[in-house]
Amino acid sequence: MTSIEKVPFVDLVTPHQELQTELVEAFKLALRTASFVGGPAVEGFERDFAEFCGAKHCIGVGSGTDALRFALTAAGVQPGDIVLTVPLTFIATTEAISQAGARIDFVDVDARTCTVDPEKLRHYFEKHCVEDRASGRMIHRSLGKPVTAVVPVHLHGQTADMDPILEIAARYKLTVIEDACQAHGAAYFSRKENRWRKAGTMGQAAAFSFYPGKNLGACGEAGAVTTDDESIAGRIRMLRDHGQSKKYFHEIEGYNGRLDSIQAAILRIKLRHLARWNEQRSKAAKLYQEFLAPMSGSLILPYQPSWSQPVYHLYVVRTANRYELQKHLNDAGIGTGIHYPIPLHLQAAYANMGWKRGDFPVAEETAEQIVSLPMLLG
Ligand SMILES: Cc1ncc(COP(=O)(O)O)c(C=O)c1O
Repeated sequence: MTSIEKVPFVDLVTPHQELQTELVEAFKLALRTASFVGGPAVEGFERDFAEFCGAKHCIGVGSGTDALRFALTAAGVQPGDIVLTVPLTFIATTEAISQAGARIDFVDVDARTCTVDPEKLRHYFEKHCVEDRASGRMIHRSLGKPVTAVVPVHLHGQTADMDPILEIAARYKLTVIEDACQAHGAAYFSRKENRWRKAGTMGQAAAFSFYPGKNLGACGEAGAVTTDDESIAGRIRMLRDHGQSKKYFHEIEGYNGRLDSIQAAILRIKLRHLARWNEQRSKAAKLYQEFLAPMSGSLILPYQPSWSQPVYHLYVVRTANRYELQKHLNDAGIGTGIHYPIPLHLQAAYANMGWKRGDFPVAEETAEQIVSLPMLLG
């Protein structure tokens, strides 16, 4: 980082200063009422966020990672199942799969959208799996385990191409859990249903992160699951709260994964500004698009398909000279990031899984070329 950063990669100070009076009031109310766990702030935020997404239920939890893990378990993923996702995502996606007891497997991304390539997903089943007549489940031939779920990741604020994914999921009896941790408010035009659908309403359940740098960020850790399925919602309410249906009646072993009440109160205030902030991100992306278009020979700009209304959590360009570009911007006092530099199948954490360079070439090449440019509001 330069000593004087004129343009930070992300500015978490200004939006909080603008809302400081309201945020401090929310904190004071929590102190006055000693409302720290559960209560009206959590319930109010859950109602408001469900409405924002157009989902029937929202269950506040401790983080996006909790949200993914609880959603997988509550939707029926069993220890020993195989759950598919992409190698170009934050490791929380795969941590949640492993922590739900399942085995991770990957499908490569599409080069233009950086989200799961539906044709490769189809190919995975046609090439590697065989149907088990008794259960109707798809069994991975060499791993000998059922493939029961897929986690499409709505990366950088843009949804995956959900129509073909949902069609493949219906055909092969897969549970779909959206990783919407970077996509609060993103929309997808379903050609099949001829309507726009919001991130968080397309799978059996969806996970959101409210990590501070997200489009909707807490002042600490927080997350949520959205779902239209009453029984999934009920199971997540138990999982987040030590498996109890009422105090000290534990139906299952769960976790300490509740949404903190102060964070919920803060999120509720910030949620009122989310649509406007998302709009500002789109405007900033449009400006980038205009300014950078003449450099399209050396810089690949984000691809926005006609079916996508992204919320630009990140504005990610691609170039063969990524480190040169970063250095040049850094010297000019402009912060950048890389999301993410090493695809998950090549991470040390998964060295024992047998994946190697070349297994997911699109994710590998993308990870070598991407640079995230500053995304500032206002
Ligand atoms: C794609 C993706 N999945 C999952 C997560 C996990 O969220 P959290 O950090 O709130 O646990 C994040 C957030 O960093 C993310 O970007």
